Amino acid sequence: MRCDLGGKVSLVTGAARGIGQAIADRLAANGSRVVYTDVDGDGAERAAGLTPGARALRLDVADAEQVDAVVRRVVEDCGRLDVLVNNAGVNTLAHRVTIDEFPREEWDRILAVDLTGVYLVSRAVGRVMRAQGSGRIINIASIAGLVPLRLQCAYIAAKAGVVNLTRAMALELGPHGILVNGIAPGSTLSEGTKRLFYAEGGLFHASVQRMLDHVPLGRPATTDEIAVAALFLADPENSYMNGHVLTVDGGWTAGYTREF
Ligand SMILES: NC(=O)c1ccc[n+]([C@@H]2O[C@H](COP(=O)([O-])OP(=O)(O)OC[C@H]3O[C@@H](n4cnc5c(N)ncnc54)[C@H](O)[C@@H]3O)[C@@H](O)[C@H]2O)c1
Repeated sequence: MRCDLGGKVSLVTGAARGIGQAIADRLAANGSRVVYTDVDGDGAERAAGLTPGARALRLDVADAEQVDAVVRRVVEDCGRLDVLVNNAGVNTLAHRVTIDEFPREEWDRILAVDLTGVYLVSRAVGRVMRAQGSGRIINIASIAGLVPLRLQCAYIAAKAGVVNLTRAMALELGPHGILVNGIAPGSTLSEGTKRLFYAEGGLFHASVQRMLDHVPLGRPATTDEIAVAALFLADPENSYMNGHVLTVDGGWTAGYTREF
């Protein structure tokens, strides 16, 4: 898929690797000037280094001061900001336990990045886009925010928050020419899921086949298959979608895969 993002400036959070990097790469390949941001500043540099004209900035989305400073700097340097992709996200690894055992610190850590981070970056960028009278905000949620999974209560709650925040932002910012939509990916082959799920010996490898049995396509998404959906939401020709969360999950949440 191709679209014309010439003259546009995009900022992607969590762009050092995985889905964020694939989205940033796609936006850049379609003409946007892209700022790759990540709490892993070296990783962001590495990822941006592969894309001519791109730049990289260290950004922890949970740090309000840093968020405001980075957004200010991008606008000073690039003059505008047209596309924001709120992609940075974390989940629990060590605490796959029921809510009665789920540690408070882990809850706070995940909510701070996955939900408060979306609020903080959208708040800062929303001011810029409102002054411009245009913009696109794309929030990366998860199917876990639509249909809960067990043993990851903080991630589930944060991603459900992102889904509804997307709709609320669409209501508030739409009148100012800013379209806000989301993507709910299913299982996607990023470095993390490759290591944890898909590699032999990965922490959750034993449950992979059981999970894929629920996916009609029988495989995870590639990061680029999620990036294509993001490009569609950023495409200037796609100008009437607002407040929608696109499910990109190979049919996982379309219904039951078995006969009854
Ligand atoms: N991979 C999947 O199966 C899957 C499925 C559904 C949703 N998602 C969502 O997609 C997004 C990207 O997932 P991924 O699999 O590519 O993850 P990943 O772990 O491969 O990459 C996430 C990136 O976010 C960065 N990051 C972490 N905390 C940050 C912070 N505080 N500030 C800025 N950057 C931070 C990391 O350094 C990393 O580069 C996440 O929001 C995730 O919840 C992923």
